[in-house]
Amino acid sequence: MIEAGKTYVVMGLLNSDSIAFAIGRVIEQHGGKVVYSVQNERLKRIFFDRSKDLTPEQIAALDIRFCDVTIEDELKTFFAGLGEIAGVVHSIGYANPKTCLGAEFHTDAIEDIKTAFHISAVSLASVVRHAYPHMKGGGAVVALTFESRLAFPHYNWMGVNKAALEAIVRALARRHGRDLIRVNAVSAGPVATKAATSIPHFDMLAGTWQKISPLPWNVYEEKTEVANAAAFLLGPLSKKITGQTIYVDGGASIIGGELTPEERPAP
Ligand SMILES: NC(=O)c1ccc[n+]([C@@H]2O[C@H](COP(=O)([O-])OP(=O)(O)OC[C@H]3O[C@@H](n4cnc5c(N)ncnc54)[C@H](O)[C@@H]3O)[C@@H](O)[C@H]2O)c1
Repeated sequence: MIEAGKTYVVMGLLNSDSIAFAIGRVIEQHGGKVVYSVQNERLKRIFFDRSKDLTPEQIAALDIRFCDVTIEDELKTFFAGLGEIAGVVHSIGYANPKTCLGAEFHTDAIEDIKTAFHISAVSLASVVRHAYPHMKGGGAVVALTFESRLAFPHYNWMGVNKAALEAIVRALARRHGRDLIRVNAVSAGPVATKAATSIPHFDMLAGTWQKISPLPWNVYEEKTEVANAAAFLLGPLSKKITGQTIYVDGGASIIGGELTPEERPAP
């Protein structure tokens, strides 16, 4: 689990529904310090405006900074301001829903494809390049992914980016073993967040999980389970695990076809 008193960077906060926020909470529950990043100053204000479920005291206790992961100077400044860290969570993704997601896979919006690839996959390598000098005693990196070995409807270019992200996880694990820095991914089943609901027909994906997940899967409730796995991968209990994609998806990823009615868990 998390090492009490150590600092963990959690990148990709949008609102209190974000997976990043659930991960930050679990880290804090285990005594870790959390530095969150949002994409820019404007989104930091939006976080405060939209997180109505948090008390002013809870909001005041959060250390939230900003960093656009596609801008080198911002990455440099962000990590330079941190000192020694024990781990980093990359909980970031974006693809234009009009061109990169939806009913049609084919698109001529090559610039959108490049932007999505930069933000959703390449940025993990950029983050680690800036983060690893701050993990002198070793550390852990965790990225968030979604089942990329299968082609899901509407997920299109994001599925491609997640496959690339998982390949980058393996390449980084190989590169940073010598630094005692481990790099892994958590492959989460569908959970209701802003990024998820911008996937056209997200409800269809959520419905699919009812048919293929041997364990009950509730898109509103499983964020903490995803966060618990991230906390495990950030801390010393997973000391010899690196380069892996760990599935926190109710078991959906191992199912061939759909569950029969008698196999389905009670809702
Ligand atoms: N929600 C799901 O069903 C689900 C399932 C599996 C994996 N994931 C992955 O989890 C991660 C977090 O997504 P989420 O569901 O919490 O949604 P979210 O919308 O709360 O988080 C996505 C974050 O990416 C940030 N981001 C986008 N472009 C950025 C940039 N250029 N620089 C810095 N930050 C940028 C956004 O500001 C936002 O904070 C993503 O990688 C997503 O693909 C989500």
